[in-house]
Amino acid sequence: MVFQVTLAMVKPDAIDRADDIVDRVLASGLAVLNRRRVRLTLEQSTELYMEHYGKSFFTELVAFMSSGPVLVMVLAGNDAVSAWRDLIGPTDSVKAREVAPKSIRALFGTDNRLNAVHGSDSLLSAYREIKFFFPTFVVADTQESGSNALS
Ligand code: TYD
Ligand code: MG
Repeated sequence: MVFQVTLAMVKPDAIDRADDIVDRVLASGLAVLNRRRVRLTLEQSTELYMEHYGKSFFTELVAFMSSGPVLVMVLAGNDAVSAWRDLIGPTDSVKAREVAPKSIRALFGTDNRLNAVHGSDSLLSAYREIKFFFPTFVVADTQESGSNALS
């Protein structure tokens, strides 16, 4: 077990269910260290999802992500990165309903794009994404090495 932080986001399709989703975060034992409700510009969602640039779904993804408000949260707890990813389930909400019916994407999402929530896929992604939304939230100065300065 290692103490980590991660970035969670309630996407525009599930923003009306944000309270229910936050309840599930807290019930899991993760803590919410900070939270912000924001509306991403197309430019910001493009920057956030740059790793997927050029993929078939990119244009629709970034348009969707800037189509309405989102709730971003810094979560903290034991193995927070994988704990949150486990809680949200697989990317595709249709598949999530098959393999992880109690997951957040199964319960609150629709399909492969309208999937209710985001979670950082690694600690390095978490640091990058937290900095993106919470510039003054210093999590570590050792991003190059990938070590966990909080452990
Ligand atoms: P990805 O990073 O692969 O999934 P995850 O969110 O589980 O880390 O993809 C980022 C987002 O892109 C995903 O949450 C929804 C969207 N997406 C699509 O719209 N179509 C697709 O085929 C895939 C794989 C993802
Ligand atoms: Mg991802």
